[in-house]
Amino acid sequence: MTDRRIVLIIGGGIAAYKCLDLIRRLKERGIGVRVVLTRAAEQFVTPLSVGALSNEPVFTNLFDLNAEREIGHIRLSREAELIVVAPATADLLAKMAGGHADDLASTVLMATDKPVLVAPAMNPRMWMHPATQRNVAQLRADGITVIEPAVGEMAERGEAGPGRLPEVPELLAAILAALDRSKARAIPLTASKTGRASGLPAQLLAGRHVLVTSGPTHEPIDPVRYIANRSSGKQGHAIAAAAAAAGARVTLISGPVSLPDPAGVDVVHVETAAQMLEAAQSALPADAGIFTAAVADWRVATPGTQKIKKSVGAKAPKLSLTENPDILKTIAASGPSRPQLIVGFAAETNDVAEYAAGKLKSKNADWIVANDVSPETGIMGGDHNLVHLVTVNGVETWPEMSKSAVAEQLIARIAAHFASRKDAAE
Ligand SMILES: Cc1cc2nc3c(=O)[nH]c(=O)nc-3n(C[C@H](O)[C@H](O)[C@H](O)COP(=O)(O)O)c2cc1C
Repeated sequence: MTDRRIVLIIGGGIAAYKCLDLIRRLKERGIGVRVVLTRAAEQFVTPLSVGALSNEPVFTNLFDLNAEREIGHIRLSREAELIVVAPATADLLAKMAGGHADDLASTVLMATDKPVLVAPAMNPRMWMHPATQRNVAQLRADGITVIEPAVGEMAERGEAGPGRLPEVPELLAAILAALDRSKARAIPLTASKTGRASGLPAQLLAGRHVLVTSGPTHEPIDPVRYIANRSSGKQGHAIAAAAAAAGARVTLISGPVSLPDPAGVDVVHVETAAQMLEAAQSALPADAGIFTAAVADWRVATPGTQKIKKSVGAKAPKLSLTENPDILKTIAASGPSRPQLIVGFAAETNDVAEYAAGKLKSKNADWIVANDVSPETGIMGGDHNLVHLVTVNGVETWPEMSKSAVAEQLIARIAAHFASRKDAAE
């Protein structure tokens, strides 16, 4: 008997069928699923198939005397760790934002004291309608996690754009990450072998090797001076720690930072981009490569071997720069030793998601995590991050959270990615 349980509310959308597979995948991971179907959802999936897959009674009617006697709507909303709404129709989003409680789904959502994760799916025009966008903004302000719909072809012929329900592995990863966050809130955190608290299940990445780069690089001008950037290494180090907490063997290649080495992680300390590339290549093979480091684009072509002296009346020296190796691109092009999953980080100050989408293609990365490092965001060097995850399926904007929470969510996503590839191979 599992101690992890969610309530899955299925709305009346064409993507409801995906939830049948989602239920199976959740059950495989030992997560109990109680399903509430809206009246409209019953037009798309039947209580019979949902009940057979979840192995639980299926709830459809607020005024069902028997169901209310056995597991009433209040118990239903409180006994789960998490409430998931997928697909969330435009209608359900509106009801939730307006605080309606006129059927079982909306009443459960109003009565719950548990975290709520919402995965909207609808026609792109419905998604982009100002009313829907207003409702989504309201739900986020109310503390509800709303996953961005994927971009692509709709079930209706000739319709494309944002509005697709993300695929099952992505839904699964978002649910696992939300469960981890809810567990982290609900119980005192135990220190992991990394010496820090982690909400990630310890076996999530067991048997995997994860390579992480972190921090800035220092490119020498002469023996005492260098070109650097403001990267603190906090995000990369948090990712390395989260991967280790999830049971992976982790190699962290760190530029010069003032952070302690995360425990349980093999750390290689480097200074320059050239050293970082060499260390990354030596660390292969790896299952996943996460390139968080802010690598200097240029280095001084011929650094001074002696300290460059300032002499009275002499002109300031001119520095001639040359391009550094592109570590992400080089590792992504490393043939058979290329990690299965390559995640690049993009720090931009404008048009963040657009640049990141370009980087995904030009660097042959699988995912890009993009963040806005304009000074006013306080992200560079700060403890919080607001990221967009860019994949071939589109852009997903995550709510602002601590760098540790971003790290844990990313590691949960990576684990779900590997799990889905394994499922597909079986
Ligand atoms: C074939 C068909 C497909 C639909 N697909 C969607 C959809 O993907 N998303 C959506 O928001 N509404 C969709 N609708 C409209 C909803 O079913 C309708 O708004 C319903 O009232 C939603 O009820 P619920 O929110 O209680 O589930 C669809 C309707 C039909 C007939």
